Amino acid sequence: MPQTDHLPHSRDYVFSPAIRIMHWLRALAIVVLVITGFYIAWPFLTPYGGSDNLQQGWFRFAHLVFGFVLCAITVARAYLYFFSKSDVERRSWGDVVSPNSWVKQLLSYVWIGKLHKKGVYGPLQYMTYLALTLVIVVMCVTGIALHANVYHDGLGGLLKPAADMIVVAFGGLAPVREVHHILTWVFVIFMVVHVYMAIWSGIRFRHNSVDSIISGYDYHPIKPKKED
Ligand code: HEM
Repeated sequence: MPQTDHLPHSRDYVFSPAIRIMHWLRALAIVVLVITGFYIAWPFLTPYGGSDNLQQGWFRFAHLVFGFVLCAITVARAYLYFFSKSDVERRSWGDVVSPNSWVKQLLSYVWIGKLHKKGVYGPLQYMTYLALTLVIVVMCVTGIALHANVYHDGLGGLLKPAADMIVVAFGGLAPVREVHHILTWVFVIFMVVHVYMAIWSGIRFRHNSVDSIISGYDYHPIKPKKED
């Protein structure tokens, strides 16, 4: 690997504490939701003939707690995207609508040319996150519909009329559950690709992509080597 320690480095502030905290809280919520969700679908620990220690209930409870955490973060994060002081995320839209930026990004992935980004995300990365956000919205809507269907007090009761409309729109409760279950695989696949790409792009473009979502700072050589 080429050494870059001798080159002057730049330290750019990228992600605010709110964005970093929400990233990791959302990561935790998604991991817990995938594990508890699959357990709800296939409760393999529950002893044959029933149990008196409510494993299914506890898994279901954790699922709901983190489900509502995910709903809350989704709303807060959408607000921050549009109204945060820093426009590093919003600026990336300029690349998404530029065919030239798409070509540059895709070529830079196969070591042809440099990646020039207006904001913090590349266009493909931006579209992937947008698609994932839409899947999260579907998970929140279907999850709330499943919840309101069995819990008629409090928030469940408040959301029941809207939840009923969702159930009708999906053509019944079974399709709601099916969509909620099948889309879980999107998160399993996303997590693997996301972690791989975060590490790979940090090495490929010599930017601190993983560190920036922990410390907030991107630390990279100012004068990249020729082969960049
Ligand atoms: C990344 C997000 C999520 C994932 C991966 C996920 C995954 C799952 C899975 C795999 C199931 C089992 C479906 C089946 O029975 O086959 C499930 C059930 C359920 N989920 Fe989610 N879920 C997510 C978000 C949510 C949210 C946001 C809520 C509500 C706030 C929610 C509420 C529920 C409820 C109420 C059930 C049904 C539990 C039952 O049948 O007793 N989920 N989820």
